[in-house]
Amino acid sequence: MIHAAVLKKEVLEYLDPKQNENFVDCTIGEGGHAEDILNKIKPEGKVLGIDLDPQQIVSSHWLEAIYKDRVTLVNDSYSNLKEILERKSFAPVSGILLDLGMSSAQLEGTQKGFSFKIDQGLDMRYNDLTGYLTAEKIVNEYSYEKIEEILRNYGEEKFSKKNCQRNC
Ligand SMILES: C[S@@+](CC[C@H](N)C(=O)[O-])C[C@H]1O[C@@H](n2cnc3c(N)ncnc32)[C@H](O)[C@@H]1O
Repeated sequence: MIHAAVLKKEVLEYLDPKQNENFVDCTIGEGGHAEDILNKIKPEGKVLGIDLDPQQIVSSHWLEAIYKDRVTLVNDSYSNLKEILERKSFAPVSGILLDLGMSSAQLEGTQKGFSFKIDQGLDMRYNDLTGYLTAEKIVNEYSYEKIEEILRNYGEEKFSKKNCQRNC
């Protein structure tokens, strides 16, 4: 495992998983948090693990080897959570975890262009089969105003206009 799951103690404290409850890990990554949850909800409790990056799903397959049918892995976006829960007939759900961001493996071990330290193409997609735009396309083809709007609204960047050379 490359990624060390963060705030493990706090995650367990706030989710408070109990015997035989079911949980959804919307960003399963390499399964660090999911493993902690699975150990708390044994013997019957289940985890539905979702990740948009197919490589991360591969990296969490070790959970299936240990926890068998108490783990279900789905390569999809948590934005489709309602449909995934219906499709997998996963209920009832006692709690949902979202550990947002990216893993160490995605930063350092891939060609996704997430890292400032490695010279790579500016891809920045978790899944290149989804039809999402690359960051390279956005940076090079979107207007200044559109990029500024993205940084301000989605990045909550208060200096989104800081380097503006124009009357904007
Ligand atoms: C910080 S890592 C999670 C690490 C994980 N908690 C662990 O213990 O290894 C964040 C994960 O969210 C995934 N991710 C990002 N956007 C996503 C989305 N829209 N839907 C599902 N997963 C997403 C990334 O691929 C990455 O694996």
